[in-house]
Amino acid sequence: MEEFDKPLSAASFGGDFEWGVSTAAFQIEGAHDADGKGLSIWDVFTSQKSRVKDGHHAQQACDFYNCYTDDIKLIKELNIPNFRFSISWSRIMPTGHHPVNQSAIDHYNRVLDAMEAQGITPWITLYHWDLPHELELKGGWTNRECISWFGDYVEVIAKHFGHRVKNWMVMNEPSVFTGGGYFLGIHAPGKRGLTNFLRAVHHVTLATAAGGKILRDLISDGHIGTTFSCTYIEPATQKLKDIAAAKRVDTLLNRAFIEPILGLGYPETELPVIKKMAKYILPGDVEAAAFDFDFIGIQCYTREVVKHSFFTPYVGAALVKAEKRGVPTTEMHWEVHPPSIYHMLKRFDAYKGVKKILVTENGSAFPDEVVNGQVKDPKREAYLKSHLRQVLKAKNEGVNVQGYFVWTLTDNFEWAEGYHPRFGLIHVDFDTQVRTIKNSGKWYADFLKDIKKEDEDTLCYSGHGQRAPEQGA
Ligand code: FCB
Repeated sequence: MEEFDKPLSAASFGGDFEWGVSTAAFQIEGAHDADGKGLSIWDVFTSQKSRVKDGHHAQQACDFYNCYTDDIKLIKELNIPNFRFSISWSRIMPTGHHPVNQSAIDHYNRVLDAMEAQGITPWITLYHWDLPHELELKGGWTNRECISWFGDYVEVIAKHFGHRVKNWMVMNEPSVFTGGGYFLGIHAPGKRGLTNFLRAVHHVTLATAAGGKILRDLISDGHIGTTFSCTYIEPATQKLKDIAAAKRVDTLLNRAFIEPILGLGYPETELPVIKKMAKYILPGDVEAAAFDFDFIGIQCYTREVVKHSFFTPYVGAALVKAEKRGVPTTEMHWEVHPPSIYHMLKRFDAYKGVKKILVTENGSAFPDEVVNGQVKDPKREAYLKSHLRQVLKAKNEGVNVQGYFVWTLTDNFEWAEGYHPRFGLIHVDFDTQVRTIKNSGKWYADFLKDIKKEDEDTLCYSGHGQRAPEQGA
């Protein structure tokens, strides 16, 4: 039977495969000024005019800061064993620097207690885009000192939580927050231009490696990773110009951030503009940027089709929009293209330095509504299943992929898009904070039931000290 004809089961990914769901502090927590929290760049960005669609902000968001006990119970109800969330730096260190805000430490300890009570394993992201505003006033990621400010924060987190959390991710998608926040100005802090971008990229790269080293030094049994966004890129035509343009975009989105971490340096041959980074690279930086992470998180949502363009500076390329191509899309206008995740898994697995991959985000946004207490979202269920089949295909071909985390638990604040795109397995009414498990959430719960059974069976076998004899043996 062909792989794609077989019924999809969680068991076919193997008993050790990590199943989870991912979130980020700024997108869900709300409680923007509770218990001594300082401002982050996203608090400031969302307060500025015309930055976010319809002026949406995240002062309440999903109120996860207050609703975490119930939301964690919902994770349990969905049979999801692993929960990825991020810590807000500006809660822990309101100015970005010492002193530490003890109420924030207490808060995250309570969140971890609630997870422990439900038997859910925490996976913490240290930086999911919400830099303390006071650090931005000093240049943020464009300032080389940001590497040591980040290091201080990582040390605080490792010392306070390292004894009870094993799974760590240093950064979330550096290409997206440096590109959006420091080149295009469409994400916080809203800076633009090549100089800001190249400086931010280099400092974030160095901070990623530095963060990994601090975690490894302070948490002896830490399982330490970092995440990258990736997009499968194809040329619009077979014309040499389009092929070359696609290669430049691919280098920028899929190679420029991971390769220095793997000790390969920046890929400047394929993307000459990166050569301009040379003035920010100090002696010893190439070595300092490398770190052997235990795992790499990849986050692939779509494919982009690229053509040559004279009008785009530095990359000389333009995207051919999905709508124009007449392909199925999500609410983000992203093409639904499941083979993309397969291709990206293959690509990242091919790097010698990548030991293991987890899909730390994958999911889709559709305009879901609650009708008679139900949310019918067949497109999300189909999206998840079709992407999982591609992950399984890669795994069966030998790619060392050992986990899959759905983006995301509840509908939440989707950055510059505000609350419009609904990515959750659980619907949120943002006026009342009422949660409704969508049909896709029920499907995921049902899908993960197998895993639970498998664990119970294993426990049962080891409880008896030996495997039950085969039938008829
Ligand atoms: C990723 C982000 C995540 C979310 C999803 C849809 O790029 O890491 O916070 O916005 O996209």
